[in-house]
Parts: sequence; structure tokens; C-alpha cells
Amino acid sequence: MRAKVATCLVIVIVLFDLRVAPVKAHGPQSVDRRVDQLLSQMTIEEKVGQVNQLFYFRQFMQPEMVEPGIREGKIGSLLFVTDPATINRFQKVAVEQSRLKIPLLFGFDVIHGFRTVFPVPLAMASSWDPALVEQAQSIAASEARAVGVRWTFAPMVDIARDPRWGRIVEGAGEDPFLGARIAAAQVRGFQGQDPSSAGRLLACMKHFAGYGAGTGGRDYDSAYISDAELYNVYLPPFKAAVDAGVGSAMSAYMNLNDVPATGNAFLLSDVLRRQWGFKGFVVSDADSVGNLVTHGFAEDKADAAYRAFTAGVDMEMSLPGINTVSMAYATSLTKLVQEGRVTKERLDDAVRRILEAKFKIGLFDNPYVDESRVAAIHNNPEHRRLARVAAQRSMVLLRNEGNMLPLVKGDPKVSSIAVIGPLADSKRDIRGPWTLADDPKSAVSVVEGLRNKVGSSVRVEYAPGVDIRRVYPSIFDIMSGPRPAAWSEAQKVAEFDKAVSLARASDVVVMVLGLHEEMSGEAASQSTLDLPGRQLELLQTVSGLGKPVVLVLINGRPLDISWAASNISAILEAWHPGAEGGNAIADILFGDATPGGKLPVTWPRSAAQIPIYYARNLTQQPESARDFKSRYWDIPTSPLYPFGYGLSYTTFSFSNLRVSKPEVKLGESIEVLADVQNTGKRAGDEVAQLYIHQRYGSASRPVRELKGFERITLAAGEKKTVRFTLGKSELTYWSSAAKGWVQDPSTFDLWVGADSTAPLTTTLKVVR
Ligand code: BGC
Repeated sequence: MRAKVATCLVIVIVLFDLRVAPVKAHGPQSVDRRVDQLLSQMTIEEKVGQVNQLFYFRQFMQPEMVEPGIREGKIGSLLFVTDPATINRFQKVAVEQSRLKIPLLFGFDVIHGFRTVFPVPLAMASSWDPALVEQAQSIAASEARAVGVRWTFAPMVDIARDPRWGRIVEGAGEDPFLGARIAAAQVRGFQGQDPSSAGRLLACMKHFAGYGAGTGGRDYDSAYISDAELYNVYLPPFKAAVDAGVGSAMSAYMNLNDVPATGNAFLLSDVLRRQWGFKGFVVSDADSVGNLVTHGFAEDKADAAYRAFTAGVDMEMSLPGINTVSMAYATSLTKLVQEGRVTKERLDDAVRRILEAKFKIGLFDNPYVDESRVAAIHNNPEHRRLARVAAQRSMVLLRNEGNMLPLVKGDPKVSSIAVIGPLADSKRDIRGPWTLADDPKSAVSVVEGLRNKVGSSVRVEYAPGVDIRRVYPSIFDIMSGPRPAAWSEAQKVAEFDKAVSLARASDVVVMVLGLHEEMSGEAASQSTLDLPGRQLELLQTVSGLGKPVVLVLINGRPLDISWAASNISAILEAWHPGAEGGNAIADILFGDATPGGKLPVTWPRSAAQIPIYYARNLTQQPESARDFKSRYWDIPTSPLYPFGYGLSYTTFSFSNLRVSKPEVKLGESIEVLADVQNTGKRAGDEVAQLYIHQRYGSASRPVRELKGFERITLAAGEKKTVRFTLGKSELTYWSSAAKGWVQDPSTFDLWVGADSTAPLTTTLKVVR
């Protein structure tokens, strides 16, 4: 691989000698003037350098492989450099040795934390708490910025309605309204008011657009999405990110309606630029430019560069040495411009946007990073504290029969705990995918968290019981290291028996089951939602012992837990809760925190129900029809748990749903109010959710659509009024009949309640 990398990099280190006075990048000029001044001095090759972004993997590359290219102004950005000394080293070459002294932009995937790992994005969305999401991403930004990373490839805002798709873990789930609120919160968290200010990063919304709709849930596979579904479902989180000021966007890998997203002028020019007025720059996904050839779309690499660049991709992300399709811009764009196939204006346009971003984040004024400050920023105890709070607030209590939870500390019936399962003592899996810059040793496993909680008075013992592994190894094993060797047949039998014996000898069993971190994420699609390996068998065997069993799930997507849902009294969905996950799980299990998270996805009974999501349209033969029902004859059509669902250790009631006016004119807004009361004996959080349904109009609308939510904390017995605004923006949709945005006069059903099946309802009439 190294040889290939070197061969490809030769392309970027061809020397040329043009000596002019450097642009004075400091001073009072406006960004525009500074950019103009630079552009006027740049050669075509230097401009092409700015649109060239390369991966730098310290695992198998050396600085000497990229430094000549930086010196010659042939690289505008590097990704995956996270060592501050190396960042300063490369930056010095750019700003002190290159002709125009343009600083490099260092990018990295800061997805759910950097040094301090927060819960995975799907978990953060389960908190239904945009303020928390914003705070978590601002901490992640500060830690990444501390080492010199200035740009994150986040937020990932792809709507995902197919849990077979591994990257469902990286987003906010199935719903455009929740997705939009979480997307905007992440942009605010990363960028703050101004991405140049201390501790902030430039954000990048991805993957534009429709990546979550890959056929069969297979990663990278083609998506076919109607315009109505695109505008109403897949695009709103991107639009929200743009409205929140996101500085960049990443084009997706896959084919959208037969035109690859990276060569898709409809997406990149019509929607993004013309309809939304997006001013930032667009980067491709890794090698997605050259892969326009692989898609059967571009003729060759030069044509791929032409098609992506003219469609609107400003910068190309390349994996040099790994793919032959890499560096299409670096190898072809100069010639394309010289031949006049790509206009100089288009090149200037792309370079202008990239330089503008570099100016706006303060890179010209402050290109270096202060290495002496890294440790203090990374070791801020407040970051770990917030990671723990975030994990507590992200967890979803799925079942709690007979109020089995919380466990009580000091209860003589809890004097020994068996912690069982392949994920129970794993520091790697508690963190989840996209954790590439932390210290895995600092993560707290469930076993450790429980021991921390109960101290020495309670015996906490652990047995993995079963071994789980992917059939196809993960590409991320390169980064995180391979798993230990698979167990022998004899070991499998011995470990299973050991776990069962441990359970038999303990008062309470905490089963920690689910997925390894590399079983979700990129290139991690799965055909079923079954618990891998013999986990279900282990659960069934242990449950047969008659001990109290709590099931804790560590996973990046809904799984088939139908058996557990009717046989295990307490089930806690912890997702991959991050570095403080073990402590946070212990907090919840022992009632030091009360669960209040809600599902951001519909939870299927099995993969056979996919696609399944709550905001579907009505059918003429619903389940209530006399016959010829739209349903499966062999399994229920309803999900195991609905979108928005989650229990607490207390109970809540909703009442007094009302609207400020029962009838409004098109374009007017009303308020929707409801009272929420904590009817239990302890404080807790409820997420009040507003859903609407338009009864008739220019097109059919979903049975329910989320249009408002608020997470509130109520003391025992306390009652609060929640208030939502419903107006034009909530009632307008893209109609395939009208081929555009419409607000229909119609009657609307409204519901406010605890999940997407909330019964409390009223109506609203919208008239001309
Ligand atoms: C992923 C992107 C990511 C990029 C850089 C790609 O494989 O699809 O989400 O930002 O790699 O790491």
C-alpha cells in the first residue's frame, strides 16, 4: 500500500518555480478583498491545489510524502491529522515555504466527541434535547480545535428509515422534524456564533443527499426517492443546517435516481445554491469524484472531475494510494481549464469559497496551534461530567414490568450482581463507531460502572458467555486494532456454562447484549436485526433460572428483541453511550438518574417489517377495514415500540389539549397547548410531542407527523403547560400534484402526548 501511496503522491510533488511577493494576508481588508488579491496571484495549478484534499494516515504514511505537495501549493486541505505537532509541522510548510503562504485546512470526523467520547448520534437524538446536543458538540469542537483540527465532517443529517443500514447510528433517526432540530443544534455546537472563535470548528453537513435510502439497507447502494419524499423527508435536516449557517457540505457516495450525488447538479446547484442560497463550499466524500466512473456515469477520471466540478463539488476528498480513482481534480482539472472545458470562472468560484472559509475561520491570522494548551483542554473534568449526563439523558427505558428498576443500593436482595454478555466489560464497544482520537482505556465499561456504583459491599462479577464477531471483518479494524482471536469450540462451551453458573450464584443478573461498535457505522449493513452469535440463547438460558434479569442493550441500531420484550422484565436501551457509558448505565439502573430518552426511530419486531416508520400514508384498506386489510397475515403490522416511545421511573398524564383558535386562515399561526403532569412519586422527564395529520388536500399526507416537542422535568405531582406554535412552515409541504410547496386549506387532527401513538386529540381548521 505504501508503494502505491508514494506513486500517487509523486503527482502532487512535481516542482515548479514561480516566485512572486507573498500576499500580505493580515490587515484590515475585508475577506472579499483579501480573497480577490490572492486569486489574482494564483496560477491555475495553485487554484487546483486548493480544491485538492488528501487523507493523511499516520499508520502508513510519512510526512515526506505530503510535504513537497504542500510546499508547491498543490494541497489545500488534509484530513485525519490529529497530532498537533504534525499539524504545526505541515502548516509551517504551507505558510512559510509555499509561494502564496495559504494555510492548510485540517479536517477530521468529529462525530460524537474527540478526546471525550459522547454517546453516538442516534443516542444523542434519543435525548430529544437540542440544547444538550449543542453543548456536547461544542465540547467536541473545543477538544478537536485544541490539536489544530479546524473542520469537522459533521453533522451527519441523513434520515434513516432502514435499520439494516449501519450508518443509522450516525444520524438522528427517521424523522425530518426531529432531524432538523438536531442538525441545527449540532451546527450551533460546532460553529458557535462564529467558527473563528476559540474552541469552534467549521461544520460540514453530510451526506448530501438521500444516502440513508440505499436499496435494501446496503451501504453505498442506489437510492430512489421521489421529489416529494426528498423535499418533505430527506432534505429538511440539510435545510435546517443551512439556515443555522453551516459552512460546508459533503456530497454523498450513492446514486440518487440514477445520477450519483457527487455529479448531481439538481442537488448541488438547483437545490443547494439556487433554492437555498448556500454560500459555503462542497467537498466530495472520499473518492466519490473518481467513483463517478465506477458508477457507470463518467467516461474516465477526467470526465469524472469535469462532471463533479461542474455539478457543484468544490473540493475533492481523496484517498491517495488506496484507490486508482483518487485525485481526479489534482490530475485533470488544470488541463480541463486550459482546454476551456471547465471555465476559469467556475474554478475561481470554487477556490473563492474555500479561501473565504479559511479566512472566516481565522486560519490566515492564526494558522498554528498552541501545543502547550492541549492537555489542559482535553483533561477538563467538566467534559467527562457532561458526557455522563448526555449518556444518562440518551438512554431509553423500553420495559420495566413490576417496576423492577431502579435497583436499590443496600437492598439485601441485591448483594451480588452477575454482569453477563460479550459487551459487558468492553471499553471499545461502550464508545461506538467513529472514535478515533480518544484513549480507549479511559472509557468505563458496564462492569466498571457498576463496581464504581456499589463499592465493595456488593459482589459484581463478570462473564462474557458468548463471543460475537462480524463475518466480514471491518475496515475500521485498521484503526482500532483487530479483535482477539475467535474462541475455540471447547472455549465456547466452557464460557457459556461459566456465565450460566455465575448467574445462578447471583441475586440479580445484568445482561449486556447487542453489537460490537464495528457492527454499526460505515460499511456495516446487516441483513437481519438478530442479536449476533448465541446472545439470545444465552439470554433465554439465564432467564430460565428465575433470577431477576435486566437487559441492557449496547448497539447502534434497533435489534430484534421480540422475545425479550415479552420475557425480560426490564430492558434499557443504552446505545453506544460513550466513555462515561458504564457509569451512566449504573446511574440509571440504581436510580441516581431517571431515564427520559425517547426512540428517534420506529422499533421493528423483526427485519421483515422494514421499511417501517410512523409517518406513513393512509391506505384505503387499513387495519380497521372489515376485510382485505393492508397487513401481514403472519405477524403484526405494528412495530414493537413506536417512534417517540420511552418509559420513566415515574408516570405522566396529558390533558386539556387546546388550540388558541379552532379556525385560522392560510398563513396564520396558532398555539397548541396541553397540560402535562407527573403522576408518580419521583421527579422525571417527559418529552411532550405534537403530531398533526392533514385530512385532505392536494396530496395525501402522513397519518401523523411530528411538528413540535419539548423535554420537560417535573417534580412528583407537578403539572406544567407545554406550548407549541403551528403555522405556515409546519403546515406547508412539497406536493407532487402541485409540483411545489403548498399550504392547503384543510382540517387537521392534532395530538399531544408521550409518543407517536398519543391518544389525546383535537382538530384545527385552516381556511382560505
Ligand atoms: C465517509 C464520510 C467521512 C469520510 C472521511 C467517508 O468514508 O462516508 O462520512 O466523513 O469518509 O472520513
